[in-house]
Amino acid sequence: MNIYYLTLFPDMYEGVLGASILKRAKDKGIVDYHMINFRDFSGDKHNKVDDYPYGGGAGMVLKPEPVFNAMDSLNIGDNKRVILMCPQGKPFDQKLAEELAEEDNIVFINGHYEGYDERIRTLVTDEVSIGDYVLTGGELASMTMTDAIVRLIPDVLSNQASHQEDSFSTGMLEHPHYTRPREYRGMKVPEVLLSGNHKHIEEWRHEQSLKRTRERRPDLLDG
Ligand code: ADE
Repeated sequence: MNIYYLTLFPDMYEGVLGASILKRAKDKGIVDYHMINFRDFSGDKHNKVDDYPYGGGAGMVLKPEPVFNAMDSLNIGDNKRVILMCPQGKPFDQKLAEELAEEDNIVFINGHYEGYDERIRTLVTDEVSIGDYVLTGGELASMTMTDAIVRLIPDVLSNQASHQEDSFSTGMLEHPHYTRPREYRGMKVPEVLLSGNHKHIEEWRHEQSLKRTRERRPDLLDG
């Protein structure tokens, strides 16, 4: 998979994409990350990427030229998802992460202004928000999405089963986990997990999953 980030702040990505599992996925050749600073495509001698809104009002608007020109420079044809990061977009969730994990090319457009010139939306296949709050720009949101997507690509995680049991993949939150020691500061590991009886363990985990989901996220059980 190739992932392209149209951004004015390519440095923001270094720490996140250059560490841990996202880095390993790149080192294994499973994914590649490409930062495109669309200021380089402004076509303006002052490298201007934003301008005042027609009709007046507060804030600046991202101009169309830098984004259209940067998109043209990618040369990747139609086989791509183009995602506009925006608080007005559809909410990001595990289902969308699973869908995007199957793509060959993903382009994230990251704005930093009051808004995008509306014509930029003609380039886009999806508008996505990571939550009902406003960030200073799309970068953190596109990194969050990258993390959720890349871990789902086959061979990125060493233990494939681990994401099939993730919270949300099953439609419920995950059951509690325990590791050694058996007892810590008076808190004991539930007997059933030590029993070696796999059927009982599975039943216990399912019950716990259901209990946790009912308590914390009853909305997930609706329907
Ligand atoms: N840009 C600013 N806020 C955002 C959000 N909540 N989700 C995605 N992109 C954003």
